[in-house]
Amino acid sequence: MSVHSTTSGDAKPVTAPGIRARKGETPIACITAYDYCTGLIADQSGADLILVGDSVAMVVLGHEDTLSVTMDEMLHHTRAASRGVKRGLLVGDMPFLSYNVSVEQALTNAGRFLSEGRAKAVKLEGGQTVVPQVKAIVDAGIPVLGHIGLTPQHVARFGGFKAQAKTADGVKALLDDALALEEAGVFAIVIEAVPEEAAQLITEAVSVPTIGIGAGPVTDGQILVYHDVLGMFDKFTPKFVRRYAELGELSTETLRRYCEDVRHGHFPAEKHTLHMGEEELGKLKKIKKAKR
Ligand code: KIV
Repeated sequence: MSVHSTTSGDAKPVTAPGIRARKGETPIACITAYDYCTGLIADQSGADLILVGDSVAMVVLGHEDTLSVTMDEMLHHTRAASRGVKRGLLVGDMPFLSYNVSVEQALTNAGRFLSEGRAKAVKLEGGQTVVPQVKAIVDAGIPVLGHIGLTPQHVARFGGFKAQAKTADGVKALLDDALALEEAGVFAIVIEAVPEEAAQLITEAVSVPTIGIGAGPVTDGQILVYHDVLGMFDKFTPKFVRRYAELGELSTETLRRYCEDVRHGHFPAEKHTLHMGEEELGKLKKIKKAKR
């Protein structure tokens, strides 16, 4: 596959401490990816952090929300993405109920993301309620990315994909969550779908980088879903997404041209066609003759 590269092949891999050290520096560019091909493209685009998000459930597997994707599916996608990612920090997203049952369960599953999925860190959703899990995972040597605000695994409790922390009390609760995660040892925190004012307060209050998605320009980095950026997912586009291309439309139109060419006999053309060598062709002619 030919992919234009903006990063040199021997660029040093990004590490969790490296991301941690970028607080207040050049904004950290993050994107999701779900397999070898998207991992390779994301990596060659120069993204600093590549998340195999549980959004795979919606944008790749066609589910209504992120709740149905399993540990085994996440590991399958993470391992595929790991084959394409050489520089960016590859983070595996722990799926619904893969870390909420007990600290032991969380630790075992986080470990699987590294040993089987070949990720370099894990992400899990929640604030103060997941602190014991985060501490245990970090203590085991696995870097953790936090995620607060609109945490899609809580969509049933929120009553939909709704912006969070819209009141002063809501912002205070979110800040407490961020401080608890920082104390538990996360290397960065994703903040999703909150007012800019909330994101700013938290970004100023914590010593680790904040990675915003629908949290305004004030965070230390940004993350978006691959299919949203490229215009490949049409079921639902949040207000905070900028579609940089319309690859969904372009792909449909391109495949339509291919189907038309097949139907009209315009594909394959001579240059796409294989031929036998002279010698074998001669033998084939004899076989044909003998059969008549
Ligand atoms: O699953 C996902 O893609 C995410 C990011 C958008 C933060 O959690």
